[in-house]
Amino acid sequence: MHKSVLLNETLEYLSCKKKQTILDCTIGGAGHAEKILESILPGGKLIGIDADKLALETARRNLKSFEGAFELVNENYRNLDKVLTTIGIGSVDAVLFDLGTSSFQLDEASRGFSFLKEGPLDMRMDRERGMPLWQVLRKKSEAEIGAVIRDLGQERYWRRIAKAIVTENRISPIKDTLRLAGIVRDAARYRPGSRIDPATRTFQALRIFINDELNALKEALLKVPKFLNSGGRIVVISFHSLEDRIVKHTFKAEASEKVLRILTKRPIRPSETETINNPRSRSSKLRAAERV
Ligand SMILES: C[S@@+](CC[C@H](N)C(=O)[O-])C[C@H]1O[C@@H](n2cnc3c(N)ncnc32)[C@H](O)[C@@H]1O
Repeated sequence: MHKSVLLNETLEYLSCKKKQTILDCTIGGAGHAEKILESILPGGKLIGIDADKLALETARRNLKSFEGAFELVNENYRNLDKVLTTIGIGSVDAVLFDLGTSSFQLDEASRGFSFLKEGPLDMRMDRERGMPLWQVLRKKSEAEIGAVIRDLGQERYWRRIAKAIVTENRISPIKDTLRLAGIVRDAARYRPGSRIDPATRTFQALRIFINDELNALKEALLKVPKFLNSGGRIVVISFHSLEDRIVKHTFKAEASEKVLRILTKRPIRPSETETINNPRSRSSKLRAAERV
């Protein structure tokens, strides 16, 4: 079960009204989308994008009662312009990005996202493109792997972890999640009971890397204003400081060009109750802006 993060806050900032057209760039299990549809119907339309085919199947199932009011497209959101043009939509009233992975993806061991479940070391959102992570890691040098773990994972033991990955890969290819998690823990000298399992940071870094998530976000954010009606809203929920930095800087740049007006001076954080009920929300930050 995926619990949508910052749901009420998202709806407040999207400020949806009846008959509007809304673009959800990360539809996932359609938790946010369901509430959006409730606020735009009758007469509204929701376009849902997801790079993950399985996420779209889940979304379709969960939105069954709204049949006819939504359109789902299997694409990377960095191509949101193509998606809208292909389905003949020139502009929308609000755009939502809820970044990262859904609980459905983390819970499905065969996707390789979780360091707690045995599965193939894949981690691609879109398994029809590119190579699984284990194959990519075999082609990368120690320096390249180290840079990913250092920059995207902000991991202090990045050197040791990268060295261990390359050494172990020479012995036999690291093809599964639990083996990689063990290698990371050993290299970072993890003692069970310590606060954060270092596999968390390395897995997150490798996932962001293999899916080129930061570049996709930059590209997508720059494309949004062209399609947003005047007064239309953009809401982004991020889970990583580098994602949040991209959102903050892009909004600032667009605000100085008088393209967007920033609605959240500081990012909105989940309440204590939400972090208790949904630990996944702990690192979330929401930023919103309005098209001038
Ligand atoms: C946190 S989940 C969204 C959950 C959804 N808001 C809900 O309430 O159910 C993020 C989704 O974004 C998708 N995603 C991540 N990066 C993407 C990208 N670059 N393009 C399209 N979809 C992406 C993932 O496959 C995942 O299903």
